[in-house]
Amino acid sequence: MNFEFILVTPNFAPHIALVQLNRPKELNALNLQLMLELKSALKSLDEDEMVRCIVITGNQQAFAAGADIKQMESKTAIDLLKIDQFETWDQIRKTKKPVIAAVSGFALGGGCELAMTCDMIVASESAKFGQPEIKIGIMPGAGGTQRLTRAVGKALAMEMVLTGKFISAAEALKAGLINRVVPEEIYLDEAIKLANEVCAMSPIATQLAKESVNKAFETGLQEGLFFERKNFYMTFASEDQKEGMSAFVEKRKPAFKGH
Ligand code: CAA
Repeated sequence: MNFEFILVTPNFAPHIALVQLNRPKELNALNLQLMLELKSALKSLDEDEMVRCIVITGNQQAFAAGADIKQMESKTAIDLLKIDQFETWDQIRKTKKPVIAAVSGFALGGGCELAMTCDMIVASESAKFGQPEIKIGIMPGAGGTQRLTRAVGKALAMEMVLTGKFISAAEALKAGLINRVVPEEIYLDEAIKLANEVCAMSPIATQLAKESVNKAFETGLQEGLFFERKNFYMTFASEDQKEGMSAFVEKRKPAFKGH
């Protein structure tokens, strides 16, 4: 997969694909082409039988410093409506396989929103999260007011969105925004380690479980419980369920095959 603004390694580790945002001079500012490339790569990796988990990263200095302000500066509301600027973000949400963000440095605006759209976030000690759009006369537009609020609660989300204040990786961990913080030298290794743990499970159960957790953010409790129950029953259609349960009974490690 050859792209201009991202680097894609489908077999970075067994069953793990790595997608690296690659506009280092612009702190990985997310221009339209980069987002289209990301959408296309995620779709291919989601369809690739060999891939069970996807890790998205940037570099030590920046995961992504937001949507590309220079590209947006002269746009009108109608331009944005026609381009549907944030439609590409939907593909990340639609990805069936687990997606882990490995974040170091700036994760701001659209960069923070991109990380929050992933299923889990592993951060380096230098990571900074923020929704600073208010400082340039706009507001978050790719999920920042919704996902951040659901993750950290109203008080902190409101403060971040209204003042543009950044929070450190340690604060983000305490607030429940991210999964773990590790030294800068090992944040990618740590994300791959987490991806490895995920890859060891049944891919079918993983997909159904991911869908169900995401449903908790989109529906009321009754509907969510009903959805969960159906997905639970569905896992019993897989050979992996038989393998997982036999392995438990036979006191051995299961070998999940994804069917
Ligand atoms: N868009 C375009 N270019 C950007 C950018 C962005 N979001 N963020 C950084 N850059 C560019 C800078 O313009 C600069 O380019 P030049 O060398 O050509 O001038 C280069 O990246 C390096 O940036 P700085 O010199 O500013 O680096 P710094 O270390 O002094 O500051 C920073 C780093 C605090 C992240 C600062 O760059 C910054 O505030 N960036 C903008 C953050 C922001 O407002 N993000 C939200 C964007 S809007 C959005 O995302 C909407 C949405 O909801 C999706």
